[in-house]
Amino acid sequence: MNYERTLIITGGAGFIGSHVVRLFVNKYPRYKIINLDKLTYAGNLANLKDIEDKPNYRFVRMDICDFEGVLKLMQEEQVDGIIHLAAESHVDRSIKDPFTFAQTNVMGTLSLLQAAKACWEGDWEGKRFYHISTDEVYGALEMTHPEGIEPPFTTKASSGEHHLAYGEKFFTEDLKYQPHSPYSAAKASSDHFVRAFHDTFGMPTIVTNCSNNYGPYQFPEKLIPLFINNIRHRKPLPVYGKGENVRDWLYVEDHARAIDVIFHNGRIAETYNIGGFNEWKNIDIIKVLIRTTDRLLGRPEGADMDLITFVTDRAGHDLRYAIDSTKLQKELGWEPSLQFEEGIERTVRWYLDNQEWLDNVTSGDYQKYYEQMYAGR
Ligand code: NAD
Ligand code: DAU
Repeated sequence: MNYERTLIITGGAGFIGSHVVRLFVNKYPRYKIINLDKLTYAGNLANLKDIEDKPNYRFVRMDICDFEGVLKLMQEEQVDGIIHLAAESHVDRSIKDPFTFAQTNVMGTLSLLQAAKACWEGDWEGKRFYHISTDEVYGALEMTHPEGIEPPFTTKASSGEHHLAYGEKFFTEDLKYQPHSPYSAAKASSDHFVRAFHDTFGMPTIVTNCSNNYGPYQFPEKLIPLFINNIRHRKPLPVYGKGENVRDWLYVEDHARAIDVIFHNGRIAETYNIGGFNEWKNIDIIKVLIRTTDRLLGRPEGADMDLITFVTDRAGHDLRYAIDSTKLQKELGWEPSLQFEEGIERTVRWYLDNQEWLDNVTSGDYQKYYEQMYAGR
């Protein structure tokens, strides 16, 4: 089959990457989609069971730091686009082990950029290097209105019951970078390298910075899946500090749709912020999770509130994130599709219905399976 395009999606076995791979494989049968993933603890091919046999899908187990390997693959497959999601992504792990974060997020991104440059050799026509980044690179916003105010922006999806802003300022694309955690410092560094490859060599790059994602297939070390699983098993819910920190939540499939729109229609060398104007204090979201999980499990709603356990705060814990995605919405017409209440209901239901997936991931069984599968290769 002669494919119209051949794309590498890195980190496709992870949480967001698996949704992006699924969307592209299903929506673009004339594109060949290569999922390049090292399968760290966060990578799980079970996330892609439903599309693994599609003819336009190929999985390659590879480390993005393997410059020679990536270059060879790009040349053999005549890759013309890269959507780069592979990263170490958990802030708490970055506090314990910053080296791995610098290695994967910085050196890994640089290795991919160098391979793309060597493969495309200045013939940039029709090529794209699209780097997925995070809002955390902008640092933290002040919480000038702890009780919440009517926000200046609205979207179709944010017009639900809860729609407050906890300050007047938002992350806009022109803000200077002020990362605080080793994770966000490494992501910031990788963003700078991507822009440098555009400015120095003319590589057609795009960078997007997205807010917190939630939805199916998220590794249960992150707030939402961890807490749903703990509520189900009536285990304590470790709330950092007072639970007052604010995060801006977007349903993962809405992020994947934004990536599709931006990959195809975004302007080269631009940055786009992605988010749904959906700020929540952690403690409020946790209460919603408890009520929803209780209800879906047939327990009295709110019965598990006593699981809330305030613990020592995360070091350097950013107070508030809030993304202004006006540029993306106005320029490319993207908007989030789901109201948060609906997204949370879907998400809790998915984790409760997929206990086997959760059990596999929490026990580490999925990794033993890969070790056997790849032994000797
Ligand atoms: P994740 O941790 O769920 O998945 C990361 C994937 O990358 C895994 O499949 C892992 O095996 C793979 N990987 C890690 N190191 C690799 C290496 N050296 N070589 C090849 N593959 C490697 O991450 P996620 O939450 O899906 O995040 C994906 C991307 O989106 C990251 O770049 C992250 O910074 C960014 N992001 C995440 C969020 C969020 O809320 N999760 C929000 C904004 C941006
Ligand atoms: O903003 C985008 C970022 O969102 C992404 O770039 C990161 O990859 C992703 O992990 C996420 O980072 P956070 O640190 O915001 O997500 P996390 O789920 O770890 O935590 C969400 C909030 O909940 C944060 O304020 C810390 C708090 N928290 C988290 C955990 C795991 C708790 O109170 N208790 C917990 O056990």
